[in-house]
Amino acid sequence: MKLNLLIIDDDVNFLNTAKKILQYGFEVTTSKNGKNGIEAFQQYDFQIVLLDMKLPDISGLDVLRRIKEINPFTPVIIITEYPDFENAVQAMKLGADDYIQKDFNFDLLKSKIEKLLETRDLKVALKYLKTEAELIRNEFIYASEVMRKLKIEIERIANLDVDVLLTGETGVGKDLLAYEIHKLSPRRDKNFVMVNLAGIEPNLVDSELFGTVKGAFTDAVNRMGKFEYANGGTIYLPEISEIPQSTQIKLLEFLQYKKITRIGSNKDIRVDVRLIFATNSDLEKLLSAGKLRDDFFYRISVNKIHIPPLRERRDDIIPLAEYFIRKYSSQYGIRREFKLNDELVKAMLSYSWPGNVRELENMIRSSIRDDVDELRLEHFPYLYERISRSSSIKPYKLAEAEFRENYFKNLYHQANGDINRASKLSGISSKYLRRILKSLGIVVK
Ligand SMILES: Nc1ncnc2c1ncn2[C@@H]1O[C@H](COP(=O)(O)OP(=O)(O)OP(=O)(O)O)[C@@H](O)[C@H]1O
Ligand SMILES: [Mg+2]
Repeated sequence: MKLNLLIIDDDVNFLNTAKKILQYGFEVTTSKNGKNGIEAFQQYDFQIVLLDMKLPDISGLDVLRRIKEINPFTPVIIITEYPDFENAVQAMKLGADDYIQKDFNFDLLKSKIEKLLETRDLKVALKYLKTEAELIRNEFIYASEVMRKLKIEIERIANLDVDVLLTGETGVGKDLLAYEIHKLSPRRDKNFVMVNLAGIEPNLVDSELFGTVKGAFTDAVNRMGKFEYANGGTIYLPEISEIPQSTQIKLLEFLQYKKITRIGSNKDIRVDVRLIFATNSDLEKLLSAGKLRDDFFYRISVNKIHIPPLRERRDDIIPLAEYFIRKYSSQYGIRREFKLNDELVKAMLSYSWPGNVRELENMIRSSIRDDVDELRLEHFPYLYERISRSSSIKPYKLAEAEFRENYFKNLYHQANGDINRASKLSGISSKYLRRILKSLGIVVK
């Protein structure tokens, strides 16, 4: 997904050139004067604005001020002609985020934008960047029979253009598959918009999704919501238990009539959006806890796809592990082919992976190294520890020693270090207790 960029400048030649260059990285909108620029900014979601200070109608400084009023988080970069630095400096003082000369090259502008998005807490803009970056960071890897079938099902559903509900434990790949459905669908060239409602206050969810008109509530401006932004594409709601009941009603209406209304308006807007929902909770529980309306639940679970946990498709484990090893090796600049030794393979296959693919990925990301040719279990202390914890039968002597140590440590603790109390609690003479505690390295007062 590309960031939306607005250029406000009266120099038509410049607008044309800039548009040509920038369209490779951005969705570019141009505006020839201040008034139109502000209007466009009010109506659509822009993540970056390029602004000329000399405009035919309103002064650039006034445009800047208005833009910052509407959305203080959107970075504004001033375009300057070479000798005009003074004006740019003035604009920076008034809230512009950076400036760039008119004959900029694409890479310079791109790096400036990236820096602005990185160094400031630009939640709004980053939401788009992040979702995209996060989702396309992995290929969809599978080898098991269940996942092979699921892939076929996904291809079929992707083309049907129906809404979908993905279920499955945390980390099984719901986000990845939601994006996969979008990519395989005829909507692939349009936006894929993930709306994580967990990060949004419940009373702002509707405006986030459906947009607002000026005056809908204090501070409300004309702003498009995610539905309009995603028009032609896909909206992904990754956790249905986060959807307020009142919003569930509105979503149902949308599913029926394919229309939305901005908050504070009574005008219907026709939008063409496919919805993909997901949850990692138990659906029955969500229903009985009253988090989901029955009608909403029945409507969205018509096309339900369940992604099984990793422990139920063990054939995927090693191909996924090898994929993540390749991926992080190349990311860390490690140029080595690894072999996984048998013990490690066995451990990976027998572990239950409660955090599913995410857990496997995290483990590999944090343990990959470049000083060995063969990866062994000892190189993955995380896995080693979990495997030994779960194999519950230990040699008796070891188990007894562990029990003894725990018992006396707890006892000493409970008695607040008072040996006579500990003696009473345990029924062991204080003299003997002293000896045991000392042998365990506990200093007795
Ligand atoms: N089949 C797969 N191939 C490659 N990577 C995968 C696969 N499945 C999951 N992943 C990766 O594992 C991580 C977790 O997956 P994802 O975020 O899609 O899980 P989720 O089901 O949405 O979890 P949650 O319920 O916690 O949101 C991501 O980095 C994802 O790219
Ligand atoms: Mg998810």
